[in-house]
Amino acid sequence: MRVDGREVWMLAGSNPLDLAGDPRVIEAAADATRRYGTAAGGARLINGNLGIHEDLESALAAFSGAEAALLFSTGYMANLGVITTLAGAGDVILSDAFNHASIIDACRLSGAETRVFRHNDAADLERQARAIPPGAHGILVLDGVYSMDGDCSRLSELVPVARACGLTVVLDDVHGLGVLGKHGRGTAELEGVEVDVLVGNLGKALGSFGAFVACSSSVREWLLNRARSFIFTCGLAPGPAGAALRALEIVQDEPERREALLARSEQLRAGLRDAGYDTGPSTTHVVPALVGSNAATMSLCERALERGVYAQGIRYPSVPEGTARLRFTPMCSHGADDIDRVVDLFRELRAVS
Ligand SMILES: Cc1ncc(COP(=O)(O)O)c(C=O)c1O
Repeated sequence: MRVDGREVWMLAGSNPLDLAGDPRVIEAAADATRRYGTAAGGARLINGNLGIHEDLESALAAFSGAEAALLFSTGYMANLGVITTLAGAGDVILSDAFNHASIIDACRLSGAETRVFRHNDAADLERQARAIPPGAHGILVLDGVYSMDGDCSRLSELVPVARACGLTVVLDDVHGLGVLGKHGRGTAELEGVEVDVLVGNLGKALGSFGAFVACSSSVREWLLNRARSFIFTCGLAPGPAGAALRALEIVQDEPERREALLARSEQLRAGLRDAGYDTGPSTTHVVPALVGSNAATMSLCERALERGVYAQGIRYPSVPEGTARLRFTPMCSHGADDIDRVVDLFRELRAVS
């Protein structure tokens, strides 16, 4: 990327498979725009339902192995829609302590009682799930990949607890989708479990914009008629829908992209650790390097940028106070040599700080 006219290596984006700039994806966006125009022109339930919305929903449902899918305008709105529709007053939501802000906001808005369990702790989940009053509906809400630490949800431990306690499982896997699992279906595929409702977005691995929910046909109907963040907003613009459709094909046809991404991420993580950084529990393409204070983190971020590498400084309130960090998000198109150079730079910057 170019920053103020200077070329900079981008290790801070949300475009891990480098599909946002892929000529095939760009052409698909242009095609969809030529065919349908630049806007859906209205809410889906009234005048904004387009053929391309339905094509994309069918493709996303098939990819996710679900009966149906429903598009939302953003991942934030998908979480709001799903959680406020499935849970209400008298219900209990069990939410991982590290869940994304959009889940936290959705829980608040739902009117359900929200009980937060310790991050990835199946025993704490079980203790709290067993205490749900008889007759109350329980919902377990999780992120697939925790976006500030880069660790995965321990679904193979948490989902069996949910099943034993009769909880509905909602998984927000916007980071895992297209990247993790043999076919790129995400964290649930990686962990070998099934969830009831999957939230994915189009704005990360698929290089576009928008989001979707993959679920049963009856949950889709319920969302279609009840989810206010779906009903009272404009349908997804045709360009991003066309881009996502094409990107989804590429994700399925070119597994080498996610393989390269995960290999480069592992190389970066190992290199940063060797250079003395604490990369926390990361096992994915989100690689943090813990620094501690806000000032030291932002200074490191600025000095790296001056030297041509952009890794994002992350501070409170995105992470707890005292745990400020650099957050690296490599891309599949970075080469092994590029990653070596990035590690060398951060080794040097650490030595002089
Ligand atoms: C875990 C998680 N869920 C949801 C979202 C929101 O997605 P969107 O940007 O499509 O609104 C994000 C955004 O980064 C995220 O990290």
